[in-house]
Amino acid sequence: MNQAYSVSELRQYIQHWKDHQQSIAFIPTMGNLHQGHLSLIEKGQSLCDRSICSIFVNPMQFGPNEDFNHYPRTLDKDIELLESVACDLVYMPTASELYPQGLEKISQVIVTDLTETFEGAHRPGHFTGVATIVAKLFNIVKPDISVFGKKDYQQYCVIKKMTQDLNLDVEIIGQETTREPSGLATSTRNQYLNEEQMSKAALIYRTLQDASDKIIGGERNFALVEKQATDRLSQAGFDTDYFNVCNADTLKPATPGDKKLVILVTTRLGDTRLLDNIEIDLW
Ligand code: PAF
Repeated sequence: MNQAYSVSELRQYIQHWKDHQQSIAFIPTMGNLHQGHLSLIEKGQSLCDRSICSIFVNPMQFGPNEDFNHYPRTLDKDIELLESVACDLVYMPTASELYPQGLEKISQVIVTDLTETFEGAHRPGHFTGVATIVAKLFNIVKPDISVFGKKDYQQYCVIKKMTQDLNLDVEIIGQETTREPSGLATSTRNQYLNEEQMSKAALIYRTLQDASDKIIGGERNFALVEKQATDRLSQAGFDTDYFNVCNADTLKPATPGDKKLVILVTTRLGDTRLLDNIEIDLW
């Protein structure tokens, strides 16, 4: 697998591939890779000739109370995993090249509308950090497609909107969430759960599925569905930030006429904040 650390190194590989009319799939990550990330690479590989993965723990998307310094960095293992799925290139930029004047002076990409609720409300500035780094990486890599996990459903919507609003020439592909056999969504944060919490955490997806089944069965009192789900999680020891039935495109509260819905949930188990969602197609 090729490795590039600077924009100029990276561009040499990309130029070579473009000269040979090869299409490029790009998967941005913050490293600490797991099966979920590998499924993004494999999706990209199924659609394009070449796959590029970036690993960059982006300081701009961490809030002052979030632990940027302790974010798990496991570069050697990440490279091994990328090699195991025959990724073509890993790009590992330095903060000094991406933010040469630091974070204060960098121009920002603010995606409107979708970023004020849910994770945007809980983590002010987070999506501006995400959108800015992703826009920069798109401009550096100039991929044909880029694959994002639907586990971070709001992030996926934000990136799609940014791409449309700014006419960026890249197709955004959403990849289904990878799950443990218990149904728990695969996540970097699962490593913070002890054994008991790990088995308890399976309730999150079961609660989503049950809520989805009620809606598919005709229930349109979304507030009731949300309350029942939140109560169930709370009785099992979860502290839920939100469990909301939304329009799948706008992420506004669902209305009874909506045909494409998503239920977004973020809930805490001990100190670990877990995110998940389920899409519902009522067509
Ligand atoms: O989902 C992530 O890992 C990050 O938010 C991303 C998209 C790589 C931007 O830093």
